[in-house]
Amino acid sequence: MIVLGIETSCDETAAAIVTADRRILANVVLSQLDEHRPYGGVVPEIAARAHLDHIDRLVAEAMAEAGLGFADLDGVAATGGPGLIGGIIVGVMTAKSIAAVHGKPFVAVNHLEGHALTARLTDDVAFPYLLLLVSGGHCQLLLVEGVGGYTLLGSTIDDAVGEAFDKTAKMLGLPYPGGPALERAAAGGDAARFALPRPMLGRPGCDFSFSGLKTAVRQKVEQMPRPLPEAALADLAAGFQTAVCESLAGRCRNALKQLSVSHPQVRTMVVAGGVAANQAIRTALTGLCADFDYRFVAPPMKLCTDNAAMIAWAGIEKLRLGETAPLTFAPRPRWPL
Ligand code: KG4
Ligand code: ZN
Repeated sequence: MIVLGIETSCDETAAAIVTADRRILANVVLSQLDEHRPYGGVVPEIAARAHLDHIDRLVAEAMAEAGLGFADLDGVAATGGPGLIGGIIVGVMTAKSIAAVHGKPFVAVNHLEGHALTARLTDDVAFPYLLLLVSGGHCQLLLVEGVGGYTLLGSTIDDAVGEAFDKTAKMLGLPYPGGPALERAAAGGDAARFALPRPMLGRPGCDFSFSGLKTAVRQKVEQMPRPLPEAALADLAAGFQTAVCESLAGRCRNALKQLSVSHPQVRTMVVAGGVAANQAIRTALTGLCADFDYRFVAPPMKLCTDNAAMIAWAGIEKLRLGETAPLTFAPRPRWPL
């Protein structure tokens, strides 16, 4: 089975071709970073137009790289939501057109499901597993028991963790996108210099919170001269990143404790989403999983940030179950898992 996947729900225009035996034949991603950088964040209207400008060429590139024609495909999958509606419309219409013209099934994929199933493409992971989904728009702990079988164990009560990285980076005067810039700035910083809170740590349950931590960093920044001295910047970045790691690990620890009673058959924890690219977070979760004798799986960074290989793969998982979508499918800006 060979599926073309299309991803256009945020600021990456992406097309990929993946096989049911887990080969990625092509995976092209065009980042719109340069177009959004002057505004310090993603501008939905600019994103939608950029997707429209590039998607046909990217699909053609992916097909050429795989050495395939549309007739060779077994299905066409696109992100159907959640995300920025203008971009989703572009991806869904492109996929529907190819499907309609070439008589192929169309699959509408939930973007979060794409992230959730990526580990099964890269690492031979069987159901069930615990998933920490950390991206610019989401921060959730889910028990994944099958395709479509997602139980929410906890989610953020305010900011998503990627959003907290991005906003904190902005406060520190770091360039957009903030997450990777903050991670670089934190290298060599003294995480213990500034006392910062560990949100929700020690409290029962698996929900997350990051806005208090963000505010604590803002208060420290406001007491500093501008521009921030280099050492203070590194120390604040390191302090923030360590607080996030400890907070995340603490909440995941509660989930692992809970599962050891309710679902002892779960032995694997997967991290996914753009923030999973963060090395300090990976290290914290690796240690946590070792404590519980869990296998820890983090997909390669290129497949953690938004891409279309994960959408093509989720398309394959759904096609195998006969879960196609009609050509009347309406894009869904909101689509909980
Ligand atoms: O999954 P993703 O590419 O897009 C969404 O669906 O949101 O995640 C993007 C988020 C951004 O907030 C970005 O700052 C964050 O992931 N991110 C990072 C790192 N790389 C990307 N956050 C912390 N450390 C990183 N190395
Ligand atoms: Zn994403």
